[in-house]
Amino acid sequence: MVDQKKLLLSREEIARRVQELAAQISRDYAGQDLLMVGILKGAFIFMADLARAMDLPVEVDFVRLMSYGAGTKTSGEVHITKDVELSIKGRPVLVVEDIVDAGLTLDFLLGHLASHQPASLKICCLIDKRERRQVEVPLDYVGFTVEKGFLVGYGLDCGEKFRTLPEIYEIVEAGGGG
Ligand code: IMP
Ligand code: MG
Repeated sequence: MVDQKKLLLSREEIARRVQELAAQISRDYAGQDLLMVGILKGAFIFMADLARAMDLPVEVDFVRLMSYGAGTKTSGEVHITKDVELSIKGRPVLVVEDIVDAGLTLDFLLGHLASHQPASLKICCLIDKRERRQVEVPLDYVGFTVEKGFLVGYGLDCGEKFRTLPEIYEIVEAGGGG
């Protein structure tokens, strides 16, 4: 009854895509004082690689959001347990997220950050997972699009497990059918 993992994205595929995203974001923000805001904990590895691949000097900050409910489904209620510490007023802000599922987490965070009047507010997510989207959030930079599945590795966890795997895997339920 142990769940299996199937390789979805190799470290080379991820690294290549992160470089492409960083190049595009660097071009788009040339001459601007960009602040990248990562969402803990899932985005910590993506954020570290993306920020280091940028051709611009950028500053980084983090927020931590909790959605109630453990396991593989979000309950819909989101709250902030750690807010940004740098001032975002009047600055271009790029939110860096690991994976967008229902969209509720980002929708909540965008509203929160917008109330502090950044000069601009955009989103970069590594994975856009389409099937369960409830709120259409504007995703400005997307690494990969998948239809469904529960993914782990490269920062993504399942009950705090598998975050540190260098590749991204899909959890496949044992016994088939899922
Ligand atoms: P949502 O878009 O509000 O549903 O929430 C997205 C958040 O749920 C992400 O930041 C992850 O923390 C978590 N999440 C959603 N799908 C996955 C997945 O496939 N693997 C790991 N975490 C996930
Ligand atoms: Mg997350």
